[in-house]
Amino acid sequence: MKIFNQIKLDKESSSQHLYIQLYKALKDMILEGTLKKGDRLPPIRKLSDFLEVNNVTVVSAYRILEEEGLVYKRIGSGTYVAADSYEKESIKNYSQELMEDDYNQAPMIDQGHIQLEEDMINFASATPSPNLFPVDDFKKVLNEVLDRDKGLAFGYQESQGYYPLRVALKEYISIYDIHTEENNIQIISGAQQGIDIIAKGMLNYGDYVLIESPSYTGAMAVFQSRGAKIIDIPLEDDGLNLESLEKKIITYQPKFLYIMPNFQNPTGISYSLQKKSKIIKIAEKYNLLIVEDDYLSDLNFYADDNKTLKSLDKNDLVIYIKSFSKIFMPGLRLGFLVVPKALSEEVLMAKHATDISTSGLLQRALQLYLQKGIWKQHIRYMEEQYRERFEIMTKCIVEFMPENVEYTLPKGGVNFWLKLPDGLSSKELYEIAVKENIVFAPGNLFFLNNKNTSYFRLSMAAVDNKEIEYGIKKLSSLINNLLKPKNKGYIQPNQYTPIL
Ligand SMILES: Cc1ncc(COP(=O)(O)O)c(C=O)c1O
Repeated sequence: MKIFNQIKLDKESSSQHLYIQLYKALKDMILEGTLKKGDRLPPIRKLSDFLEVNNVTVVSAYRILEEEGLVYKRIGSGTYVAADSYEKESIKNYSQELMEDDYNQAPMIDQGHIQLEEDMINFASATPSPNLFPVDDFKKVLNEVLDRDKGLAFGYQESQGYYPLRVALKEYISIYDIHTEENNIQIISGAQQGIDIIAKGMLNYGDYVLIESPSYTGAMAVFQSRGAKIIDIPLEDDGLNLESLEKKIITYQPKFLYIMPNFQNPTGISYSLQKKSKIIKIAEKYNLLIVEDDYLSDLNFYADDNKTLKSLDKNDLVIYIKSFSKIFMPGLRLGFLVVPKALSEEVLMAKHATDISTSGLLQRALQLYLQKGIWKQHIRYMEEQYRERFEIMTKCIVEFMPENVEYTLPKGGVNFWLKLPDGLSSKELYEIAVKENIVFAPGNLFFLNNKNTSYFRLSMAAVDNKEIEYGIKKLSSLINNLLKPKNKGYIQPNQYTPIL
């Protein structure tokens, strides 16, 4: 790390974003030969700690270097210098253009990050506020695991996952009508990793993948990173447009379809049971694999039927992904897959290649947490907390949003999807709202071409009741103002956090 001492970032007065300063400093080090071909750049967290900057600053700087061909990423290993100083003539040098035309002007929001200050009303994050995390209970099970398993808790865990945890999860999902064997369960370090290893195990460059439009940004990023061609299918109030689905299966012969049938991200809609059954029939007809991302079905308030597709899948065509991030603690990075038998080997190999195994200590603690029944109490507690917010959010949207703002109210989950009157851009609303200390997720983030849309997502996961009322009233009045002469917003560089 010593050589990185020479990087001097101006955090106070410079008008240039920190990630651009860092990018330039690293580029100079490569071109001057301080960093040589094959040298490994420090891991993101290490460098961000060392320079006392946000992780995103380092991620963004590395990305520009990668786009310029100065560094390359080796999956699971790190970022390496690709070119030597003597090769500098051949280095694609479009930094000026890149910085002026793109990065300087495109706010971080376009790259999926929001700027967050302490007192902001955060409708952008679908992640629960940390004060809802069951820290004391989890501390107790962690201690118990350490007393019981001692060093074993810190050894490598089997790649498929700690066996007793898989048994416990098998029991847990049987309540949701998913009946499987522990051998079909794969523990993952969060649903994001689940999506990633499925893509790693199944996709080759140029393969087609079908998704909903709009869809989850993190999944699109994974498929893109594999070189897949992503085809989107319009989402209706009760699920995918089936005609379009069938046509696209025939035209593109996709490797799989990725969907979130319950409380979809970002729209909050749930597929009707009828559509779920039809999709299963279509999958059987075309032998189509479906990746079902169940990141939130536990938070059901009013849906009569929030069955998972997996529970309807009799032909082992659905790869089921379960995340605990939204109802438990995202930082644990724990989730699981139910994998069709035909794919178990590919998935296991991809998991092994990615991180060998998910933390054994945390898997053991979660198993104990489930076994002791604390999990059930916690889910009930989260349901209560969220139900109240959900009701207030619903009431405020109905009461305060201008009449020409459109929405379909969800029956559960944490996301509300709204549409501004035609001609108004949600990005413009975002820029104005930021100045009023309110953030949300503009709709363009969730569409394939990132096009500017009038849609936007409001999440209630990280806001309290008072903030909801104040925030929705304020947003409503900003929309009313936007309907009058136009305002232009400006975003101050600050702390950025990913929209998840
Ligand atoms: C639809 C969806 N899938 C997956 C994830 C990632 O979840 P995890 O934290 O379990 O990796 C998110 C996070 O917001 C999400 O919204």
